[in-house]
Amino acid sequence: MSDVELRIEELTKILNDANYSYYVNANSIITDQEYDKYMRELEELEEKYPSYAKEASPTKRVGGEVIDSFKKVYHEKPMLSLSDVFSESEVISFHDRIIKEGICPKYVCELKIDGLSVSLLYKNGLLVRGATRGDGVVGEDITHNVKTIKSIPLKLNQPVDIEVRGEIFMNKKTLEEINVERIKNHEKPLQNTRNAAVGSIRQLDSRIAAKRNLDSFIYHLPNPEDYGIKTHIEALEFMKKLGFKVNPNNRLVNDIHEVLDFIVEKTDTRNQLLYDIDGIVIKVNDLIQQSDLGYTAKYPKWATAYKFPAEEVLTKLTDIIFTVGRTGQITPNAVLDPVIVMGSTISRATLHNEDYVKVKDLRIGDTVSIRKAGDVIPEVVEVKKERRTGLEKEFVMIDKCPICDSVLAKKGEQVDYFCVNDHCSSRKIEGLIHFASRDAMNIEGLGEKIIEDFFNFGFIKEVSDIYLLQSHREDLTRLEGYGEKSITNLIDAIEKSKENSLEKLLFGLGISHVGSKTAKVIASHFHTIDCLMHVGFEELNSIRDIGDVIAKSVVSYFQDEKNICLIQRLKEFGLNMEYLGKKIVQHPFFSGKTFVLTGSLNMYTRDEGKALIESFGGKTVESVSKKTDCVIVGENPGGKYDKAVNLGIKILTEKEFKEMIDSI
Ligand code: IVH
Repeated sequence: MSDVELRIEELTKILNDANYSYYVNANSIITDQEYDKYMRELEELEEKYPSYAKEASPTKRVGGEVIDSFKKVYHEKPMLSLSDVFSESEVISFHDRIIKEGICPKYVCELKIDGLSVSLLYKNGLLVRGATRGDGVVGEDITHNVKTIKSIPLKLNQPVDIEVRGEIFMNKKTLEEINVERIKNHEKPLQNTRNAAVGSIRQLDSRIAAKRNLDSFIYHLPNPEDYGIKTHIEALEFMKKLGFKVNPNNRLVNDIHEVLDFIVEKTDTRNQLLYDIDGIVIKVNDLIQQSDLGYTAKYPKWATAYKFPAEEVLTKLTDIIFTVGRTGQITPNAVLDPVIVMGSTISRATLHNEDYVKVKDLRIGDTVSIRKAGDVIPEVVEVKKERRTGLEKEFVMIDKCPICDSVLAKKGEQVDYFCVNDHCSSRKIEGLIHFASRDAMNIEGLGEKIIEDFFNFGFIKEVSDIYLLQSHREDLTRLEGYGEKSITNLIDAIEKSKENSLEKLLFGLGISHVGSKTAKVIASHFHTIDCLMHVGFEELNSIRDIGDVIAKSVVSYFQDEKNICLIQRLKEFGLNMEYLGKKIVQHPFFSGKTFVLTGSLNMYTRDEGKALIESFGGKTVESVSKKTDCVIVGENPGGKYDKAVNLGIKILTEKEFKEMIDSI
């Protein structure tokens, strides 16, 4: 190795060690002047001898890379979020649900950092990709910005291939400093540390993110089995050893009482932390217990987030206005004197329906308390009646649509009023917004404001017009505020949405009672829209999770001539109408049942066995309990087989299992 190469290596080590000590352990081992001097020397050497410059060099931290757009990233294991609980008794119910499964867990308690989650991918110990969560399955590539975060190692202490997940956030003091500067420059201050972190990460130019001085904590290892890890606390320790910043407050506790103690302790001391937290995360420590508990469609059942009580603030209710949703539902909304709650300005809050306003006895002019917990939609808690002056105005429900003036109607026993005019522009706009939204067709760039504009200009009147926008390209670029580039990106995003799997389209169509989860159940069952369009009530109703109301709604949607025409048009535009996910064919022997595989299998690998069971609607878990429906045994089965015999659980040999599969 040449002297230059050696010096580059030496400087890299000094700077990386200094970074690690300072940003991970909050301990300076060299002065700022020394740090700057070594950094300058390294920059000069890398400039002079670019072939020696390493991808993971600390000089890369200052930013400089500017990207055109965020590339999409597919998460091999979905990035899930957590269920929320809001009280001690809900924490205990979470624990009780676990005990009911025959599991007696130890927990790891962690702080719930208020930032944005990130997935970091390393190959051979080098950072190769940083990605946002996105919708959990597809996120965005933010590697250029992640590299500027000093507590995220560019190179690990071991040359491993690994993915870790954690939170990117902004320290409270950093936000203060940035805001002092912004106010001086007559710029709007950033509202809170979370929005500031999200906004910094969403920059195409990494120099901006570099200046924002973001920080990180890593708290999740998606593939612990690859490293022989058996508990979550071990995973945290392992990630710390690799060089990640792991929160020192994490605590392994023995029982639910110690969880509650942790919550009380951290609630009292959270203000002393250098960063914002919005709750406590509780995770089952043992990874086999975790996998036995499994997941719902959105959340792990082995973890939950206790959210701190929301901050309440008083303000004036200056008006109540009405909005019309995509289904025609009329919602009263509180117009409030703007106030800051939990760092963001609130000037509106939904009042849901007429009954809600009446039960709370809200009058225009009232002083009300409002609250907001983190991301949660703000709500009006109560009226401060003692502050009434007598000048407050009684609430009167409207009887005509505020947009199209048609007479409102109630549906059956429901408390809500509906605008039943299919041509009401508000309903149409809301329907279009829903179609383009993230869980539906996920058309990036086609947000509320653009949809409203394009609707009002007459470019989009109904869903299928979205796929004709391309032919208006020239007119669109002439509109104020829409540049060539943003229109090109939008048209690309529209084009791309044609490839979506069927469930996204089904959800986007806005069929009553079909939420995104139901859309997935339906799509994975029928695979193509043609099959679904011809299905009858009985068949739909026989599917698990599809009750009478949904089945009726789906059948009537596909009987409506207008909807059949819409699907036909979308087909002609080239939209995919097939389910692209794992195909699940429900089979009565497997569907909804829990299986355990034990002993060594000869005809299948473990993963193949599991995949087969799942493809017929069953699930597999690691350990045998009363809840297990069937155990499949290979050669030399151990304790799991004995336990199954003791509990009288159905047992299949591998051969019997194969015969069963072959006969399907
Ligand atoms: S664990 C499957 N641990 O909270 C496990 N999440 O509401 C997934 N968060 O999306 C997450 N601190 O962005 C976990 N110590 C922590 C966390 C944490 C903050 C965030 C994360 C997640 C959200 C869930």
